[in-house]
Amino acid sequence: MVKRIAVLTSGGDAPGMNAAIRAVVRTGLGYGWDVFGVERGYSGLVNGEFREMGPRSVGGIIQQGGTVLGSARCPEFKTEEGQRRAIRELNQEGIEALVVIGGNGSQTGAHALHKLGFPVVGVASTIDNDLYGSQITIGVDTALNIALEAIDRLKVTASSHERAFLVEVMGRNCGYLALMAGIAGGAEGISLPEFETRPEAVADVIEKAYERGKKHAIIVVAEGAKYDAPALAQYFQEHNEQLGFALRVTTLGHVQRGGMPGAFDRLLGTRLAGHATKQIHAGNYGVLCGQIDGKIGTTPLDEVAGRTKELDPDLVELANVLAK
Ligand code: ADP
Ligand code: F6P
Ligand code: MG
Repeated sequence: MVKRIAVLTSGGDAPGMNAAIRAVVRTGLGYGWDVFGVERGYSGLVNGEFREMGPRSVGGIIQQGGTVLGSARCPEFKTEEGQRRAIRELNQEGIEALVVIGGNGSQTGAHALHKLGFPVVGVASTIDNDLYGSQITIGVDTALNIALEAIDRLKVTASSHERAFLVEVMGRNCGYLALMAGIAGGAEGISLPEFETRPEAVADVIEKAYERGKKHAIIVVAEGAKYDAPALAQYFQEHNEQLGFALRVTTLGHVQRGGMPGAFDRLLGTRLAGHATKQIHAGNYGVLCGQIDGKIGTTPLDEVAGRTKELDPDLVELANVLAK
């Protein structure tokens, strides 16, 4: 029976990670285990940066964005040497199981530990929503609401000045945040990495909005699109594209990641992490805890590692129809 576990947060921070840390600590203590936090994700793991967590050490964090444990990108951990170093540190500390809260890269790392024989359970967390094994991941809802607030505000000033805006949102190579922000924000156009949109086609959307007598045109551009927002603006300028509207560019960037988690992400983080310690208690290792068909469930890391989740083509079609 397990007595000592550890938890880390890895990859881009996501609002709701703290709720997940808190739930791992408190449910773990509830099972009578000693619970340790690892600082700075895999970076702290390979360097043996553990700290013991008590119930008070996670007090007052559920409403905070970011992660109190810190997060990092750790190239060393991508090597087998780095992974073996991490396992040596875990063994030295007497840790018997590890919870990895993070996105697709982090869960690929968790899978590597699992393959080397270390007991690990993943918790689905990334604002990008590109992780296979969870319909929605911790942080997506809050990041989406931040993008929407920005789009709503940009629409106000765009209408006042009769301008077009290219609004770039995060998501790495996945268009989920851009697609959903575009639909919920009532954008005139959306450009995604998954479907190549030629700059001429974006210019056409803006010009048609102008000709239809609209007061603004909002184009949501995913950062991973072949032409991101600054590249589109440059293309329009170089090719003297006639847009009707004057153009402005806003890149939301990391603003999207740093918000206070909303109710949805606090609850998702809490529930997924509670499920993770339940898996450890049951000895069910090498799995990712995620939301499947609206319920909390698990997917083997063998299926999750190295994969990304696809966009729903029906939503893309709906977005195209709505942008009139
Ligand atoms: P996310 O988990 O949000 O997708 P990253 O892709 O940056 O974020 O991954 C976070 C960390 O996970 C990386 O810095 C690295 O330490 C580890 N990682 C990513 N990919 C792999 C891999 N293929 N094998 C082992 N570890 C990986
Ligand atoms: O994975 C989350 C994310 O915010 C992506 O949307 C973005 O591409 C990336 O992280 C940015 O990484 P960094 O925080 O290292 O600049
Ligand atoms: Mg990722």
